[in-house]
Amino acid sequence: MIELRDITADNWEAVANLKVAGDQQSFVAPNVYSIAESKFYPGVEIKAIHAGETLVGFIMWGPDPVHNPPEMWIWRFMIAAEHQGNGYGRAAMQAALDHLRAQPGVDAVFLSFEPDNTGADRLYTSLGFRRTGRVEYGEIVVKLEF
Ligand SMILES: CC(C)(COP(=O)(O)OP(=O)(O)OC[C@H]1O[C@@H](n2cnc3c(N)ncnc32)[C@H](O)[C@@H]1OP(=O)(O)O)[C@@H](O)C(=O)NCCC(=O)NCCS
Repeated sequence: MIELRDITADNWEAVANLKVAGDQQSFVAPNVYSIAESKFYPGVEIKAIHAGETLVGFIMWGPDPVHNPPEMWIWRFMIAAEHQGNGYGRAAMQAALDHLRAQPGVDAVFLSFEPDNTGADRLYTSLGFRRTGRVEYGEIVVKLEF
């Protein structure tokens, strides 16, 4: 059972200590960086991904300040290396999308990934994300329309 929990004084260090595999480090910023960044952008939310009582990952979403009109983006997403391949990533992304779909005024969600991140590409495509043709900061931008 996957749950998205708030990040508080009690669990932020555990979230900051979650790591992806060595060869995945270029795919996502360290969680401690993302937690810090989230404090400075209105509307950005950070969540700990739990499988039952076990902390397994981190996700961050919110309006992207760069685009006009504003777009809702998944800013960061990771499952710790030792917990990957168990379906947690798919379930957590689905939970985040369900949450965003229920928000008034949100009719699409964007995210981007490195061109060599084939695992992420496959996951997002299977969830319904489609390529926009945009490349930003060297990453492929995809969009899910609700
Ligand atoms: C992407 C990530 C979050 C997926 O989490 P996960 O818990 O391992 O994913 P799941 O077990 O739910 O697998 C979901 C799908 O992802 C795809 N996938 C994940 N890792 C894969 C890999 N190494 N190779 C191929 N496909 C992969 C599969 O299509 C899988 O499909 P399935 O459900 O039909 O088996 C995780 O691999 C991760 O944290 N990677 C490093 C950080 C990263 O790349 N974040 C995304 C930045 S955009």
